[in-house]
Amino acid sequence: NDPTTLFTSSGMQPLISYLLGEPHPSGNRLVDVQNCFRAVDIEEVGDNRHTTFFRMLGNWSLGDYFKSEEIPWFWEFLTKELRLPKEKLYITVFKGYENIGYDTEAEKIWKEVLTNEGLENKIFADDTNWWSRSGTPDKMPGGEPGGPDTEVYFKFDDIEHSDKCDGDDPTKCECGKFLEIANSVFMQYIKTEDGFKELPNKNVDFGAGVERLLAAAQNQSDIFQTSLFKPIIEAIEEVTGRPYKDNQREFRIIADHLRASVYLLDAKVIPSNKERGYILRRLIRRAVDNLGETNPSQLESVIQAIVEE
Ligand code: GLY
Repeated sequence: NDPTTLFTSSGMQPLISYLLGEPHPSGNRLVDVQNCFRAVDIEEVGDNRHTTFFRMLGNWSLGDYFKSEEIPWFWEFLTKELRLPKEKLYITVFKGYENIGYDTEAEKIWKEVLTNEGLENKIFADDTNWWSRSGTPDKMPGGEPGGPDTEVYFKFDDIEHSDKCDGDDPTKCECGKFLEIANSVFMQYIKTEDGFKELPNKNVDFGAGVERLLAAAQNQSDIFQTSLFKPIIEAIEEVTGRPYKDNQREFRIIADHLRASVYLLDAKVIPSNKERGYILRRLIRRAVDNLGETNPSQLESVIQAIVEE
């Protein structure tokens, strides 16, 4: 019942009323997998990491655990469950905005976690470390919940920084060498006419895109070459008769847009000239535009690879 958006684009969207304080029927600790579609990213697709459709793994504290539990668990999940190499992980925390200060609490907990592991301090602060449905604090309308977040980045050694990037600081990297793989939002504020106020509960919204976690777990800097996307890319190579290495941007757009289209169709969206249907029509058109000489009627095996993913 959210009239402000056409699609579910984040894990928090279906949980807003519970983040605002309504009791959830399943209790105050939740886990979920949320299909997400971000139409705003449609033009970004084509690089090594952007997709419009992804699956968000979430864990949620509705006024239950908070920073001191969540941050060590975040680290444990990445390094013990997923067995990601510790030395490749980098951390960011919130730098502050108006009456909400630098998140020294999160920074202190992270420092303890890293010190216990015998790791150097790899924590950086940024003012974009904030999450709400509408983005940074200045963009939030009244009544909107949000909070500072802490983000974990994975460093890919095979990507060379561009001139605009800076060493080991993920907040100063635009080239894809550092990939944000997960974040924990400390969802504890609501925006009012008089600035930010505390919500009744201090909540946690942990979010991690499956596609990006997989890229890190496979140390594969190109999401479209992970075991999830590879069969789709290979099917596109087969039907077009062209190699991925010479057509990366086009094939990534075809793979992402057709995959998103399959999931939207499965959610009963029909191509049309308005709202969700218009976005679906645009996705299909952009996928077909990138096929070159290949006839779209040959796409059946690509769709099959997506369905079997
Ligand atoms: N956990 C917030 C988000 O990335 O959607």
